[in-house]
Amino acid sequence: LIAAGGTREPIDPVRFLGNRSSGRQGLALAEAAAARGAEVTLVAANIAMPDPPGVTVVRVETAAELHEAMAVRQAAADAIAMCAAVADFRPIGISDVKLKKGSQGEPASIELERTADILRDLVDRRRAGQIIVGFAAETGDGDGDVMSHARAKLTAKGCDLLVVNDVSGGAVFGAQDNQVTILSAATPDEPVVVPRASKAVVAGRV
Ligand code: CTP
Repeated sequence: LIAAGGTREPIDPVRFLGNRSSGRQGLALAEAAAARGAEVTLVAANIAMPDPPGVTVVRVETAAELHEAMAVRQAAADAIAMCAAVADFRPIGISDVKLKKGSQGEPASIELERTADILRDLVDRRRAGQIIVGFAAETGDGDGDVMSHARAKLTAKGCDLLVVNDVSGGAVFGAQDNQVTILSAATPDEPVVVPRASKAVVAGRV
């Protein structure tokens, strides 16, 4: 069971809050798993690419839809990968009419509320033996570098593997290739560095 792509949180009928995820890495993961004989369901959030052959695809738009789609399929899965870029916040109260410039409905600011942490929820509900893989998009900041944030995230999320993307400068989004470091909860002090390669090769390593 793989979640891929990027969620969109509507503001009004024509606008949304989104992110730069193309879904390529998650599609590659679905293809790699299917090629190795897995029965794969891909929950695809706003992926503008055709469905991969031999994979069951469920299309969703928002974080709430993605959450529901994953939750109802969790019990049947041997392994789950949360490769999607999920919105952490959504606008409170979606306007059902288009917000017009200069109208009374024109917002001075957009109020946001937190969405659920889907990966945390999957970990909380995991059944014995189920493997859960998280992804992390990190940039270094004043609180630490990419890997220190990643190690903290592995612990906070409680997943088995964390596939860490350094997204400084936005280079990974939409690109054909990727460079990741894989952290394992079993051996957190032995990060596996996967050198820059196609997203298909990276998917194979994961
Ligand atoms: N994730 C999730 N639900 C969310 C946010 C993230 O399931 N509401 C998952 C992502 O699919 C990914 C992992 O959590 O597998 C880490 O996502 P990331 O964006 O790196 O981190 P966040 O949890 O959003 O934390 P922060 O923004 O503080 O870095």
